[in-house]
Amino acid sequence: MVSITAKIVATAHSTPEKVMTNFDLEKIVDTSDEWIKSRTGISQRYVVGNDEASSDISTSVAKKLLIKSGLSADEIDVIIIGTVTPDHFTPSTAAIVQNNIKASNAWGFDLSAACSGYIYGLETGSAFIRSGLYKNVMVIGVDTMTSILDFQDRDTCVIFGDGGGGAILQGTQNNHGIIDSLLHMDGSGGKYLIVPGGGSRLPASKKSVENREHFIKQDGKTVFKHAVRGMANVSAEILSKNNLTGDDISLFIPHQANKRIIDAAAEKCGISKDKVLINIDRYGNTTAGTIAIALSEAVENKKINDGDYVLLSSFGAGFTWGSILVKWNLS
Ligand code: COA
Repeated sequence: MVSITAKIVATAHSTPEKVMTNFDLEKIVDTSDEWIKSRTGISQRYVVGNDEASSDISTSVAKKLLIKSGLSADEIDVIIIGTVTPDHFTPSTAAIVQNNIKASNAWGFDLSAACSGYIYGLETGSAFIRSGLYKNVMVIGVDTMTSILDFQDRDTCVIFGDGGGGAILQGTQNNHGIIDSLLHMDGSGGKYLIVPGGGSRLPASKKSVENREHFIKQDGKTVFKHAVRGMANVSAEILSKNNLTGDDISLFIPHQANKRIIDAAAEKCGISKDKVLINIDRYGNTTAGTIAIALSEAVENKKINDGDYVLLSSFGAGFTWGSILVKWNLS
């Protein structure tokens, strides 16, 4: 039997127009451009305006994906949106986007895996393609983190931003595209990066709002340690599983949470600095958006050639983490 792999045939990204620099943040919380840059690598992030939400960013990504892939909306079979900041609990962001782009034959859903949302989405989409059931799968990673940021909490509000990106997956019989994946989850880490309120455990109430429980909370140091270890280990694991070393990788696209996490993870799995894509300086941590935006920028800037091995690795709340190995396109 001929085996099918999923190939990324188009990528796109989108952000809100409004930029918030570290200097803007200095006016809101007790922080400094110098501290943010040296501790995280971030200089600025994009933030939504009033009345803008994750489905707006996703719709913009989806429209670009249709143009770039040459597909019409009714050719899309499935829409998967990785996000922890959906417009609403229900309807799903995927349903809103489906309606916005008039993808009349698509079904789809939101996928909650925090910063691993795009990697989990690519794995899910790839499995759908490999099953032979679907031809065109749209995967988007998006977050409007400012909707759950506490601008009184300087430990968290300086590191996140809003934005998203995506890809169209199609099948190929030439053994390239997404050639391998390794995904992990460890729910014992849940308490270290959490939005405590607003769900069924702690429904919204006057008290939950007064206690600021609808905002994201983190134990930054613990998350930092797990992120370095998780991203480095899973990246090394997928390389060795495929008999590759860091030298064989043309481009490493890690989740953009903190430049120090990226540097440590790349060093630990033997990938030289010039092969590591870093754009956290301009976007901050857009959660499910980071890898999708970075991959789209890399394609746009012609940083990837046919035959290149591209490694995507994530770490996020849950804890969730994973790597996807792509052998770039070769039509
Ligand atoms: N501006 C200025 N000072 C700040 C600050 C800010 N925004 N945030 C914290 N500080 C202060 C702290 O209060 C502390 O002061 P003290 O020494 O007087 O107590 C000092 O800076 C050092 O704080 P610390 O928490 O040790 O900093 P850090 O080097 O661990 O960096 C994070 C903090 C949050 C940037 C870092 O832990 C991190 O990136 N963690 C991972 C977070 C993450 O990636 N989350 C998403 C995962 S997907």
